[in-house]
Amino acid sequence: MNNIKNYIDDNKDRFLEELFELLRIPSISADPKHKNDIEKAAELLKVHFEKIGMENIEICETPGYPVVYADKIIDKKLPTVLIYGHYDVQPADPIELWDSEPFEPIIKKTEKHPKGAIFARGACDDKGQMFMHVKALEAMLKNDALPCNVKIIVEGEEEVGSENLGWFVERNLDRLSNDVILISDTSMISNEVPSITTGLRGLSYVEVEVTGPSHDLHSGVYGGAVANPINVLSKMIASLQDEDKRITIPGFYDKVKEYSEEERKVMGEAPFDMEAYKKSIGINAVEGEKGYSTLERASIRPTLDVNGIWGGYIGEGAKTVLPSKANAKISMRLVPNQNWEEISEMFKNHFESIAPDSVKVKVNIHHGGEGYVTPTDSIEYEAASKAMEESFGKKPIPQHSGGSIPIVALFEKELKSKTILMGFGLDSDAIHSPNEHYGVFNFFKGIETIPLYFKHFTELKKQEK
Ligand code: BES
Ligand code: MN
Ligand code: MN
Repeated sequence: MNNIKNYIDDNKDRFLEELFELLRIPSISADPKHKNDIEKAAELLKVHFEKIGMENIEICETPGYPVVYADKIIDKKLPTVLIYGHYDVQPADPIELWDSEPFEPIIKKTEKHPKGAIFARGACDDKGQMFMHVKALEAMLKNDALPCNVKIIVEGEEEVGSENLGWFVERNLDRLSNDVILISDTSMISNEVPSITTGLRGLSYVEVEVTGPSHDLHSGVYGGAVANPINVLSKMIASLQDEDKRITIPGFYDKVKEYSEEERKVMGEAPFDMEAYKKSIGINAVEGEKGYSTLERASIRPTLDVNGIWGGYIGEGAKTVLPSKANAKISMRLVPNQNWEEISEMFKNHFESIAPDSVKVKVNIHHGGEGYVTPTDSIEYEAASKAMEESFGKKPIPQHSGGSIPIVALFEKELKSKTILMGFGLDSDAIHSPNEHYGVFNFFKGIETIPLYFKHFTELKKQEK
């Protein structure tokens, strides 16, 4: 393992430069204008896999954006680790709020990252974290230190719901067969308190449209006599939560996984600084479902949030208008056992049923996915715990996250293997926001930890037999 560490140390600058090159490609999956950039990113990854000595490299076409695949099978009798990551990124908007160019990476020091952080869209989510695996593989391959088989898939549609990755997985069950799936696309508690993500939330994403009159009206001539779709939509949305911030959709909580007092007590032991939390996002008070802590509200409880709302006149100055339409995008974060398709249907039925006769309502279900829980009493988890303990000098804490990676539940269903979410980001790294960044320390710590995962997983698998 020393060889690997020296190799990483000797190649630090090149690793960063290579990551920068990938970060310069604006591979935004949500915006069709960037189709070329998506393809460029996939091509660049292919070149990297070739250079480091991976085999069976292929840019696999799908009905959407391609999946890049590579593997290195050293001995069929040895276990196989499947690595997953995504090379697509979120849009950089609002661009004017960035302090530097989103696709021109630079390193700056921050309070949380005294050794510097790489500022760029995708630095943490997920190019920086995914690329740690490419460099960890390079370090193992160039030092003859790969202890087991490895397969890697990197997709280009994670940020838009991974619909075609499901398509790809279903058609490539043999090619993707594995003993464990390893992903770095989540966060840790802090650089001093390493943690492993053991839970992800599911997601249901819907868009609603409320239509009143057939065209915009004069708000003086008609106002007061005709339903205003924006007023109606606001009231409908407000009614989706009660005073205790519980979601009012009938049946919504029926399948929610409830945790025992003991389990909640253990989760509550994770360090959490309320004042620092509020300060870091500029709020004076937190808010959420009655009876649960902030950490619980943001991880093991389901939510409903408006992500965007529009309608009427939003230009300069005033225009007196009673708009014809109002729209909103709404996401519901789900917890294990809630089925996203069932919840989306529930939402649709309920939302249509609460609309007054004066308007018409359309609900469009976008995409979704199920939540996930990784058991901690498994070899798969133990290997991650040992790897992080070795590289950080501290045993990591298991922690549920509030984010979603919908493909993980599908992996388990189709490939019948567990996923380990060994992410190295921090919640304060501003993923999806302006000034996204990723700690230089975190990048190299990840590259150092991944080979240790391979080592421990292979050893534990051998002992199992
Ligand atoms: N990497 C994130 C998910 C994440 C972030 C999990 C931090 C845990 C901690 C992923 O890229 C993401 O943003 N997922 C989307 C879901 C997708 C369907 C758009 C999300 O959570 O909003
Ligand atoms: Mn991600
Ligand atoms: Mn993301």
